[in-house]
Amino acid sequence: MASTGQVIRCKAAVAWEAGKPLVIEEVEVAPPQAMEVRLKILVTSLCHSDVCFWEAKGQTPLFPRIFGHEAAGIVESVGEGVTDLEPGDHVLPVFTGECKECRHCKSEESNMCDLLRVNADRGVMLSDGNSRFSIRGQPIYHFVGTSTFSEYTVVHVGCLVKINPAAPLDKVCLLSCGISTGLGATLNVAKPKAGSTVAIFGLGAVGLAAAEGARISGASRIIGVDLYSSRFNEAKKFGVTEFVNPNDYDKPVHEVIAEMTDGGVDRSVECTGSISAMISAFECVHDGWGVAVLVGVPSKDDSFKTHPVNFLSERTLKGTFFGNYKPRTDLPSVVEKYMNKELELEKFISHEVPFSEINKAFEYMLARASLRCIIRMGE
Ligand SMILES: NC(=O)c1ccc[n+]([C@@H]2O[C@H](COP(=O)([O-])OP(=O)(O)OC[C@H]3O[C@@H](n4cnc5c(N)ncnc54)[C@H](O)[C@@H]3O)[C@@H](O)[C@H]2O)c1
Ligand SMILES: [Zn+2]
Ligand SMILES: [Zn+2]
Repeated sequence: MASTGQVIRCKAAVAWEAGKPLVIEEVEVAPPQAMEVRLKILVTSLCHSDVCFWEAKGQTPLFPRIFGHEAAGIVESVGEGVTDLEPGDHVLPVFTGECKECRHCKSEESNMCDLLRVNADRGVMLSDGNSRFSIRGQPIYHFVGTSTFSEYTVVHVGCLVKINPAAPLDKVCLLSCGISTGLGATLNVAKPKAGSTVAIFGLGAVGLAAAEGARISGASRIIGVDLYSSRFNEAKKFGVTEFVNPNDYDKPVHEVIAEMTDGGVDRSVECTGSISAMISAFECVHDGWGVAVLVGVPSKDDSFKTHPVNFLSERTLKGTFFGNYKPRTDLPSVVEKYMNKELELEKFISHEVPFSEINKAFEYMLARASLRCIIRMGE
């Protein structure tokens, strides 16, 4: 390709300050260095984690920065040492990588790669501590190694998943974060048995994907918990059978759920990011066998408080990053689940905007109007 080894000038949506609208700027994207890949992003979507770090409330502020981590694209060029990807390959960038060599990557039980594990406080590339983005010589920080709110971005090869080129990128982009996270939290971590009762805290896209996992597992009751009853109608499409709005009760939500389920649910999955929901999600599982799984990203200063007797009475608390999927090893088969129609992605897409209107995607999410908003780069 003519652009190989050259700086590419393209459009990116730059966050100059916390909580301020992104500005579409012309940025310079440096060529990929060793073990890096430069890709053309075709579609990206907005996940709540982008909004959390853009607001930077309770998170380390790092600006100016290019956010975005749920996306799909095509390899433009590869750096030295990259052998398993080539220009033209269809890829999903992922916020947590898989080097395939560390202890975690070699363990069947972990997807927490030592080298490429998510680090939201690092805004630069691993190899040389520099950014590949700049505007008139000023470096712009990366976000979780992906920075997909740019027409071109540079990503470590271990954070790229090569996928079936026949897969529609404007659908499978959702698998690069939220949907895989929720689905895997249920299928790989909570592992409900057929006929069991599952509570899902937070009915955003991640929670609804967790509900989808419960439905696929054959759960008999799926109880959705959210502070906004407007979420309940949408959730019915995802197999959620009952709803609880904690604001409708004058007792703690775990007690409400215990009463509904003769002592507690078999499994719960928390997908809110709220510390109180995390504690309730744990306390609402049945003693003796209940398992709660935390997915939401908490604020920096949060701490989890519960009485130890809740553990002694044989409740289990787990947490997951990216639904415990090893991205490069496992995601191609999740893409195939979509291709085989075992998994529906269309129902997660509530909005679409062109890249020039990316701020609308933020407005929809902040107004809780959207599940997932697809942002198309090419106009
Ligand atoms: N662990 C991971 O790997 C991972 C990956 C992706 C996203 N996440 C996190 O998952 C969470 C959900 O993401 P999303 O994109 O679906 O967000 P979202 O904002 O679309 O949905 C969150 C839902 O939680 C509800 N909620 C908030 N506080 C609540 C409470 N106290 N009780 C009940 N419901 C409550 C909100 O009303 C909202 O409907 C976020 O915290 C996100 O950062 C984690
Ligand atoms: Zn995400
Ligand atoms: Zn590794």
